[in-house]
Amino acid sequence: MDTQTLDIINRLSTAQLPRHIAIIMDGNGRWARMRSLPRSAGHYEGVASVRKATELCSDIGVGYLTLYAFSTENWNRPQQEVDTLMTLIGMAIERETPDLIKNNVRLRLIGDIDRMPDDPRSRLLRCRQATAHCTGLTLSLCLSYSSRWEIVRAARLLATECAGVDTDLTQISETDIESRLTTTGIPDPDLLIRTGGEKRLSNFLLWQAAYAELYFCDTLWPDFGKEELAEAIADFQKRERRFGKTSEQVSHHPDKDISQSDSRH
Ligand code: FPP
Repeated sequence: MDTQTLDIINRLSTAQLPRHIAIIMDGNGRWARMRSLPRSAGHYEGVASVRKATELCSDIGVGYLTLYAFSTENWNRPQQEVDTLMTLIGMAIERETPDLIKNNVRLRLIGDIDRMPDDPRSRLLRCRQATAHCTGLTLSLCLSYSSRWEIVRAARLLATECAGVDTDLTQISETDIESRLTTTGIPDPDLLIRTGGEKRLSNFLLWQAAYAELYFCDTLWPDFGKEELAEAIADFQKRERRFGKTSEQVSHHPDKDISQSDSRH
C-alpha cells in the first residue's frame, strides 16, 4: 500500500465506510479539449483514474465499486469514438487482469454486453472468469447499460414468467423486480458520485440509487484521483442517512447499520 493511501486510511473513519460506491465518470472529453488533445486522450487518461479508484476502494475495504463506463446512449456517439472506447476498455481490462487477481478484485459486467464487439467482449468475459474466485472488492463495469433498459428487461422477464401461469399479480413485490435487475445480489449504492460538473443521474442505477447519497464535483474524471475519492467518502461520512425515518429515530441507534433496515418509507 502506498503512503498516500495509508494517509487517507488514517483520515477516514473506518466505521462508516460506504459498502457500495457507484461513479458516473464524466469529463474525459473536456479534459482532452482543454489540452487541445483528441477526446480519446481523455478516455485513455480516464483509465488511470479507474485504476486509482479501484485500488483505493480495494485497500480501504469498500465492498463494491460500480462504474458507468459506457451507457446505452453512448452508442450514438461518433463511430470513431465508440470504436476507440471499446478498444480501450478491452485492452485496459486485459492488461489489469493480473493485478485484479493479485488484489482479490472480482469483475462483474452489467449491461447489454452482447451489443459489444467480439474482441473487447471476449477480453471482458475472460477477465470475469479469471477473477470469479476473488472475494475482495467487486468491481462492476456498466457497459451498454441504462437503467430504463434494465427495468424494461426486468418487467419483460417477469411478465414472461407470469404469462400462462396462475399467478396472483397483486403479490408482485420490490424483490421480484430487484431479483431481475442486472445488479441482483449487489447491495444498493450508499454513495453515488458524479464527476465533471453536471448534476444529473443520466439513466444510471435509478432503481438502486433510491437512497444513495449523491455527491457531485467539478473535477473532471481524469483528474479524479485517490484524494478526490477520499474527499467524497469523507463528505458521505458527515451525512445523516435517515431512509425516510426522522432524525431522532436514527440518532437513537447510532451504531446500528441502518442501510440494512427494511423500513424505508
Ligand atoms: C464520459 O466522459 C466518459 C465516458 C463516456 C467513458 C468513460 C470510460 C472510461 C474512463 C474508460 C473505462 C475503462 C475501463 C477499463 C473501465 P465524456 O466523454 O462524456 O466527457 P465530456 O462530458 O467532457 O465530453
